[in-house]
Amino acid sequence: MSELSGMNCLVTGGAGFVGSHLVDALVAEGHQVSVFDNLSTGKRYNIMRHGTKVEFIQGDIRDMSALAQACQGKDIVFHKAAIASVAESVRDPQSTYEVNILGTGNVFEAAGAAKVKHLVFASSAAVYGPMEYPECHEDTPLQPASQYGLSKLVGEQYGRFYAGFHNMQVTCLRYFNIYGARQSPSSDYAGVISLFIHNLLANKNLIVFGDGNQTRDFVNVADVVQANLKALANTGQYPFEILNIGSGQKRSLLALIEALRDLGFQRFDVEHRPDRRGDLRHSSSNINKAKKLLGFCPAVAFKDGLAEVVDYIRLQKESSMGSLQAGEPFVNDPDKACNA
Ligand SMILES: NC(=O)c1ccc[n+]([C@@H]2O[C@H](COP(=O)([O-])OP(=O)(O)OC[C@H]3O[C@@H](n4cnc5c(N)ncnc54)[C@H](O)[C@@H]3O)[C@@H](O)[C@H]2O)c1
Repeated sequence: MSELSGMNCLVTGGAGFVGSHLVDALVAEGHQVSVFDNLSTGKRYNIMRHGTKVEFIQGDIRDMSALAQACQGKDIVFHKAAIASVAESVRDPQSTYEVNILGTGNVFEAAGAAKVKHLVFASSAAVYGPMEYPECHEDTPLQPASQYGLSKLVGEQYGRFYAGFHNMQVTCLRYFNIYGARQSPSSDYAGVISLFIHNLLANKNLIVFGDGNQTRDFVNVADVVQANLKALANTGQYPFEILNIGSGQKRSLLALIEALRDLGFQRFDVEHRPDRRGDLRHSSSNINKAKKLLGFCPAVAFKDGLAEVVDYIRLQKESSMGSLQAGEPFVNDPDKACNA
């Protein structure tokens, strides 16, 4: 257990992909955990294994009074709740603004008013926009190319403001493309990884938007959890910081497809479709600041992380064919196509 075990933690979006992995780790480290989630994309079964150890509050971050109540007595808030989709933000900007901007403002306000010590905000590499540099540093000029990226940039500005206004420590973690078990294949991010694997296991071809030479920085969800735990361990150490959280390595979609072939998937074709609006061409992180300040160190090798997702999805499929395991229903939407 860490020195700061026994912290009272609130995880907004804790029933989602990233949030639920974080909840697992916080419980394992001996913290008290409450989850605040409206279950729009999150699932109760993602956190059910913890039973009554984790308090579940079904609520919406647009509801200020519910948030104010949820923040009472908390030491730290991990704010993960969001409409986490570039494509959705282009299709329906208003909903993205309501949740990711108004809702995020509510989270900062409620946490500050409840005298929460530290708020860790899930920002995104989408704040950088089209890359004109070989890799993004935290001080690289920001020019979001989607309403989603813009909404995350506003979230960071809330962070900068509230760190001073409420004297609350704020850490903004700019995640790159996270992948791992429990990720919905319809996610816009490394959802491309779970989507591809779903399709390959269903003997379907892969759809790639554009030529496939676009690059992404795929970071395993276990490493993202590590960054959040390191931020928690640094509670009280600085007032406000923005940190890139990625693997520090870039891979093209074609390289991802090759890595899947190396895992034994051989019999499929790749179908190319036109680029999608809002999608970035390249994305690559410089993570030196997080390494230095937090001691962050990505530990999961890409091929191991990929093999783990294959095993997870294969197991889901098998249990859906036999008796479904409680808590892990099989989700399949292989016709949905997305790139990171
Ligand atoms: N997955 C990635 O690669 C990635 C990359 C960059 C940033 N992020 C950010 O990380 C966070 C987590 O992303 P994820 O991939 O786990 O997405 P996710 O969709 O799995 O999780 C988001 C969670 O927020 C909940 N939620 C949505 N709207 C809500 C609302 N109005 N009130 C309360 N709860 C609400 C959902 O039900 C879900 O459980 C998001 O803030 C996302 O923008 C993710």
